[in-house]
Amino acid sequence: MTLDPRLAKSSPAVALAEDGLFLADVWDGLAGTPKTLPAKYFYDSAGSALFEEITVLPEYYPTRTELGILDDRGPEIAALLPAGAALVEFGSGSTAKLRRLLRHLPGLSAYVPVDVSEAFLHAQAETLRADFPDLSVQPVAADFTRSFALPPSLSEGARAGFFPGSTIGNFEPGEATRLLDVFGRILGEGATLIIGVDLVKDRDVLEAAYDDAAGVTAAFNLNLLHRINRDLGGAIDPDSFAHRALFNAEASRIEMHLVSRQAQTIRVGGRSFAFAEGESIHTENSYKYTLEGFRALAARAGWAPVTAWTDPNGLFSVHALRRAR
Ligand code: TRP
Repeated sequence: MTLDPRLAKSSPAVALAEDGLFLADVWDGLAGTPKTLPAKYFYDSAGSALFEEITVLPEYYPTRTELGILDDRGPEIAALLPAGAALVEFGSGSTAKLRRLLRHLPGLSAYVPVDVSEAFLHAQAETLRADFPDLSVQPVAADFTRSFALPPSLSEGARAGFFPGSTIGNFEPGEATRLLDVFGRILGEGATLIIGVDLVKDRDVLEAAYDDAAGVTAAFNLNLLHRINRDLGGAIDPDSFAHRALFNAEASRIEMHLVSRQAQTIRVGGRSFAFAEGESIHTENSYKYTLEGFRALAARAGWAPVTAWTDPNGLFSVHALRRAR
C-alpha cells in the first residue's frame, strides 16, 4: 500500500486502470467485515490539499515537531552521513523537511527523491535544482513499497535513506518491518536511515491531533466518500457518516473511522452495501511507538540503532539506524 499524497493520475490510460482498481478496492473493502477502505485513496487533489492543511493545524503536532528536531539536530544528523553520500528519500512529499537537512549537507553527492507521481516528482526536482545548483538531483518514479533500482548513474559510495512524517506508522507493524528491509536492500550494507516516528503519548493529545476542532481531519476522512461519489458515480450521502478518531491503546495506534449515523444502504458502481446504525468503515491506522519499541521493529529488519532524537516535550522521535554489514 502506498500512502504518499501524490498518487495523481499521470495519463488517461493510467487513470482508467486506476479507476478499475479503485472500484474493485472499494467493493472489496465495503464487502468485508469489518468494513474498510484503503487509505491510499485519500490523496486525490482535494485530499492532498486537505492534508497540507492538517500539517499546520494547532492540534497536529507531528509535522512542526519533526521539523524542529531536524532544525535542532541538523549538524548531528549531517555528522552521521559520510562525505559524498547519496541521500534517497522514500515518498518525497513536499521538500520542506529535506530542505531543513540540506543546509547541513553540503557534501552530498546526490539527492534521489522516489515517488509514484512522475509529474509531481519532476516539478519538485526542478525547484530543488534551482535552489541548490550544486546538488545532483536524480528522481526515480517508483512505488517505494516495492523494490526498485537506484539510478545507475549514482556513484559508488555511502548511501543514506530519509523517511520522515511517521509514514512508517501508517503500515501494519509486520508490513513496516518488511518495508524497512526493502529500504535496507535498496540502500545496501552500511547505509544510514534517518526516519521520523511518532511517539506513544497521552490519549487526549493523540485523539485531538486526528480530530481537530476546525474539522479539517474530518473533512479529509469524509473526502474519501466524496471521491467515491465523484470518481465512481457513487450515491453516498457523506453527511450520513461521522469522522471518528480513537486511540486503540492495546494496538498502540490511532484508528480513523467513518461511522454511519443511521441504518442505511449505500450504492457504489451498481452494488449495495448495508450499514447498521453506528457501523464503521475503518479507513486508516497510525501506529505510535516508544523509542525501544521502534528499535525492536527496526532490528527485525536488519537495522541497528545509532541514535534517536526527540523534542523537549517527548512528542516525536527521529531515529538514525545503520544497516548491518
Ligand atoms: N503519517 C502521518 C500520521 O499518521 C500523516 C498521516 C497519514 C495522517 N494519514 C493521515 C494524518 C490521516 C491525519 C490523518 O500522522
